[in-house]
Amino acid sequence: MRRSMPARVVLAGAHGYGATYLRRLVQLKADGVARLAGVCDPRPPSPDHDGLPPGTPWTDDLADLLGRVDADVVVVAAPIHRHHDLAETALRAGADVMLEKPPTPTLAGFDALSDLSARLGRVCQVGFQSFGTDAVEHVRSLVADGAIGDVRGVGAAGAWVRTRAYWSRSAWAGRRELDGRPVVDGVVTNPLAHALATALRIEGSDRRGELTSVHTELFRANDIEADDTSCIRVTTAGGGTVVAALTLCAQEQREPYVVVTGSRGRVVLWYKTGRVDVTGPAGTDTRTFPFTDLLENLLRHRADPAVRLISPLARSGAFTEVLEAVRTAPPPTRITAPHRVVLGAGLDERPVVAGVDDAVDDAATTLRTFRELDLPWAGTVAA
Ligand SMILES: NC(=O)c1ccc[n+]([C@@H]2O[C@H](COP(=O)([O-])OP(=O)(O)OC[C@H]3O[C@@H](n4cnc5c(N)ncnc54)[C@H](O)[C@@H]3O)[C@@H](O)[C@H]2O)c1
Repeated sequence: MRRSMPARVVLAGAHGYGATYLRRLVQLKADGVARLAGVCDPRPPSPDHDGLPPGTPWTDDLADLLGRVDADVVVVAAPIHRHHDLAETALRAGADVMLEKPPTPTLAGFDALSDLSARLGRVCQVGFQSFGTDAVEHVRSLVADGAIGDVRGVGAAGAWVRTRAYWSRSAWAGRRELDGRPVVDGVVTNPLAHALATALRIEGSDRRGELTSVHTELFRANDIEADDTSCIRVTTAGGGTVVAALTLCAQEQREPYVVVTGSRGRVVLWYKTGRVDVTGPAGTDTRTFPFTDLLENLLRHRADPAVRLISPLARSGAFTEVLEAVRTAPPPTRITAPHRVVLGAGLDERPVVAGVDDAVDDAATTLRTFRELDLPWAGTVAA
């Protein structure tokens, strides 16, 4: 069914990352694609919200708001442990959902939300904006066409820096659970989730049931519950391997990437910029692809179902299977001195894990895990 525009959009979670949606909605309104119908956030608006039209309804309860205003789409940019109930409230009120990643903090929640949206005939787009570039399909066709020979596997490398300010911004930051509810706010499932999700999509195994094993090595150098330095290896039903090596305790912040390694070369996708480097016997070739905004894509899909949804819930299925493995794994192993070095002070304080900047590159390109790389802080491989 074609639906007219502008669509009425409600935003749940308007501070933090949610503020970027308010800015996008200003442009989408100017383009005649959407208009902001209301905001739900327990915190009142701040002076940063200069894109907020005067008189916009603002409440602390989504069900209450949806009882007062009609919404075609609800954007959920709230804490992870609220994703499921807010998305469910939106779907039951008849709206489609733009749901931030990770879609849900449990696999059971993912399945329940998938069933509900199918039953109600509503769509749910997940905020993996790295899927919104043709670079992803370009990498897949290069690989399928044999540009790098026989594929050995797909790696993902992320080396970021996060200070105490990041972990102290919200009660749920760095938690595995809060008030008995799963949160799973670790490096794999939240800050560098795009690296793993994009690697799974490039490998062609991003749906439920497409993984045959998930191996987790979870560590933490920060004073948090969740993992901040982790390596994941999955094997796929198609015989593929994906290794994601991710840290928030790098010496220096770098662009994360996904790399496909083959017998005659490699393809690297810098998924935040859409740049693709293909390195083969003849040298390196580079192309950069633009991005499509996922909210705009959802709105255009609603108006014309021939417009393909870029990041439907089903394409986060394998990612959520990895999330479930992280959630149910033993707590992360603590990294201590001398492998942990503290820099800065106060809210700028941050731990650096010795050698981790190189380790994430090594793991992603050799497809060996931190333990297999014999890193001194990672422990040994079980015999
Ligand atoms: N796609 C990306 O690149 C990206 C980047 C950062 C964060 N995120 C996602 O955005 C979401 C928010 O993350 P954040 O870091 O901005 O968190 P945050 O804690 O800084 O902000 C969350 C906001 O949600 C509000 N909130 C809390 N409970 C709510 C409720 N019941 N209903 C409505 N609003 C509620 C809070 O008051 C706050 O304004 C998370 O899902 C996160 O994973 C995505």
